[in-house]
Amino acid sequence: MMKPMDDLQKSILKLKAENAVDVLSDDEKNIWNNFTEIERIEFLKDLLEKPVEFDNPVGIWYSKTKWSEALKAVTNKISLCLLEIASGANDIVPQTVARLYCHKDTVYTTVNLNKGLTDEFKRRTKQLPIKIDIIEDAAQKIEDYIGTEKIDVVVFEHSFNDIIEALLVERDGVDTINTDWLDILPEMVETVNREYLNKTLESSVKSEFLKIISSCLDVLKQDSFIIVNQFQFQYSLNVGMNPDLLENYLPITRKWITDAGLGEEIFFEGFESQWWMFLKKK
Ligand SMILES: C[S@@+](CC[C@H](N)C(=O)[O-])C[C@H]1O[C@@H](n2cnc3c(N)ncnc32)[C@H](O)[C@@H]1O
Repeated sequence: MMKPMDDLQKSILKLKAENAVDVLSDDEKNIWNNFTEIERIEFLKDLLEKPVEFDNPVGIWYSKTKWSEALKAVTNKISLCLLEIASGANDIVPQTVARLYCHKDTVYTTVNLNKGLTDEFKRRTKQLPIKIDIIEDAAQKIEDYIGTEKIDVVVFEHSFNDIIEALLVERDGVDTINTDWLDILPEMVETVNREYLNKTLESSVKSEFLKIISSCLDVLKQDSFIIVNQFQFQYSLNVGMNPDLLENYLPITRKWITDAGLGEEIFFEGFESQWWMFLKKK
């Protein structure tokens, strides 16, 4: 049985709240309104208790609500310099930053390699009323672009898996930048499964992976946080991802991070440690 992503009863109360839809755009509200409250609760139960389906109609609401809570847990600033690592085309975090920290000093930066996904990211975020910077380079090099202690929050939204899989296939010469991500996904899944089952994942990627975490800590201001969210996509299982690895990406990488003495993990009420990690710069 999968460890639920969240407390169902508390999440239902949030879903029923009058201001629940404040996190949604007008288009997202129209989709939300196509369903009754009972249907939304059923979708929420599926979302929290099973691997995530792309088309679950409460998925965007849940992610935006949870990211709003995660950011508020680590900062009470009114403007924010936030760095997202490997956003792909995902606009949940920039949308949330634009809603909560709409201020002239707010800057959202993403560092992302794949060109097709970056183009889609630009299309999705071009109307947002905050400054958006895109660094089209490897996260390993962020210190070349951002100085020490400049960032208020670093976030990884479902990207530890992508970073690890890309590191593995890049070593085999696969181009993860100019290709369609879905075309190379089967090779990434096959490679990461093999490394996981052969118990070579750690020796293959840990040091490069930790280099990224340590660069993130470097650009973070003192006492600020890296926030990591991992969850399971049903699609990843459909294309053959090892279910045990998919469910345990965060516990596995957490051990690498804590063994290396990087940052200090802080636990916040309401965030399951299987799916969330808050790492404070010491
Ligand atoms: C499938 S996408 C989306 C990930 C996204 N955060 C999500 O919500 O699923 C994965 C992205 O991670 C990027 N990526 C992987 N490793 C990276 C690295 N070391 N530096 C920068 N971007 C990286 C890829 O280029 C790609 O655009």
